[in-house]
Amino acid sequence: MLMDMMTRIATLTAECLTSTWPEAAGLPTADEIRGLLAVPPDREMGDYAFPVFRLAKALRMAPPMIAKALCEVWNHPEVARVEPVNGYMNFFLNRVNFAKETLTAVLEKGEAFGSSDMGAGKTVCLDYSSINIAKRFHIGHLSTTMIGHSLKRIHDFLGYKTVGINHLGDWGTQFGKMIYAYKTWGNKEDVEKGGVAELVRLYVKFHEEAEKDPSLDDKGRYWFKKIEDKDEEAIAIWSWFKEITLKDTARVYNLLGVEFDSYAGESFYMDKMDVVIDELREKGLLTISQGASVVDLEEDKMPPCIILRSDGATLYHTRDLAAAVYRKNTYDFDKCLYVVAYQQDLHFRQLFRVLEKMEKPWAKDCVHVSFGMISYEGQALATRKGHVVYLEDLLEQAQQKALAIINEKSPNLPNKEEVARQVGIGAVIYTDLSNGRIKDIDFSWERSLNFDGETGPYVQYTHARCCSVLRKAAEVELPEVDYNGLADDEAQHLLRLLSRFPDVVKEAADKYEPSMITRAVTEIAQGYNKFYYEHRVLDDDAGVAAARVALTKAVKDVIKTGLWLIGIEAPERM
Ligand code: ARG
Repeated sequence: MLMDMMTRIATLTAECLTSTWPEAAGLPTADEIRGLLAVPPDREMGDYAFPVFRLAKALRMAPPMIAKALCEVWNHPEVARVEPVNGYMNFFLNRVNFAKETLTAVLEKGEAFGSSDMGAGKTVCLDYSSINIAKRFHIGHLSTTMIGHSLKRIHDFLGYKTVGINHLGDWGTQFGKMIYAYKTWGNKEDVEKGGVAELVRLYVKFHEEAEKDPSLDDKGRYWFKKIEDKDEEAIAIWSWFKEITLKDTARVYNLLGVEFDSYAGESFYMDKMDVVIDELREKGLLTISQGASVVDLEEDKMPPCIILRSDGATLYHTRDLAAAVYRKNTYDFDKCLYVVAYQQDLHFRQLFRVLEKMEKPWAKDCVHVSFGMISYEGQALATRKGHVVYLEDLLEQAQQKALAIINEKSPNLPNKEEVARQVGIGAVIYTDLSNGRIKDIDFSWERSLNFDGETGPYVQYTHARCCSVLRKAAEVELPEVDYNGLADDEAQHLLRLLSRFPDVVKEAADKYEPSMITRAVTEIAQGYNKFYYEHRVLDDDAGVAAARVALTKAVKDVIKTGLWLIGIEAPERM
């Protein structure tokens, strides 16, 4: 196999290291250096950069001195120059070499460019979406679902084994209330027809009635107790409610292309909490406070973590503790990510702290991947006050609006409905994943569906444009690529963005930040459009045309992969 430039640079750097400091021990191998090489964000800093900080200890020298010494001896005919800047060695290739290196690397791997086996043998659990039974899926659930889904794909792409878990909210007294409401005011046909909407209606009804007659709360508790005691009728109704909810949400998951490996929800941990509670007790971590058993977290400046209520009932925290232990035992994860809104920051800080106090060495591998709020057309979402935007309605509208645009822009497109689905849903997902996750988002149709702005449709459109260029190119005979044809500024900028893509994917995984990939594909799309306007792809010079076609293919592959990593499809015609 052809050894790529980064590997050659790493090998040569390793050789320079040992020849300059033959006595030194603990120097990184060529492989390790390869792992540290990065593509700097800015061309001024070279095409590739090697941070030498890691060597400071072994060489007992300041990083800028090391970089300087290495640059002096470093020499390779294909590298135009090497410059030391602070603790970095910056490598500059000539433009033609850079084009050749980058294109070869991308086209050799195609849509797998940027993938890696760095995660081989490691498992990542991802808890996302984690909906509540008998509640409707509204747009507030979009972020947990899409961030989680994207992080799963990103980790898969980097070679990790991933376990996607929908930690269903399927336990608690509300289910007792629901059963009572169903038995009192509901019937089978209506629930079957109305689905979750009908369950919600019954739940609201219960609360209205309970305001007039507080004894209803006892009825709710009575039925919940029956679920706990595995009463046949209670369990049957409760399971049925779950089925109804999952059937409704499956439609949304299908539209979004989201899947899970496990639907082990809160009820799954019913028989798995006792061991954890015993362990807490044995380790002397439980104290009694107003009748409840709690783990005191005062020294951590947090409210106590309640494990058992005074009536002996378990809580959300108790089930999460059992779930964490179960996941570690079952999947032996290297990381367990919880993609949950920032409102639960305290919940997870408490949870992880309790795991630490239990001396679970893996507590540090649990990460709360938190995110901001979503509003709709400038209006905050208030479930209580009735301003709710259901996800299914939103996705339905998105498809309709996309279809209207397509009918106007390309009325003769084959498969219009299918493309409208891909574009409409893509627009929604893109909006959700376009900013740093902690930032609040406002969803607006005008912004999301603007084909010229920084949007999903814009990136998808660029992908389709590449496909169209490639279809035309397939009709002509092209010679070998002449890399001199890619020395212009636009092609070079684009090549640079492509060559950074693998680093971006890794960084997105490190920071749990899919938006970095959204940004990268958007920049690539913008770079390609600029290139496309400035240059004729099918140039009269056939070698140059071949080079531009090859670049187009590389752009198409990377955009497609990038979109896939954030959960967006890439139609070939738009
Ligand atoms: N069902 C919860 C909610 O909607 C989210 C659960 C998150 N996951 C967890 N392991 N606590 O608020």
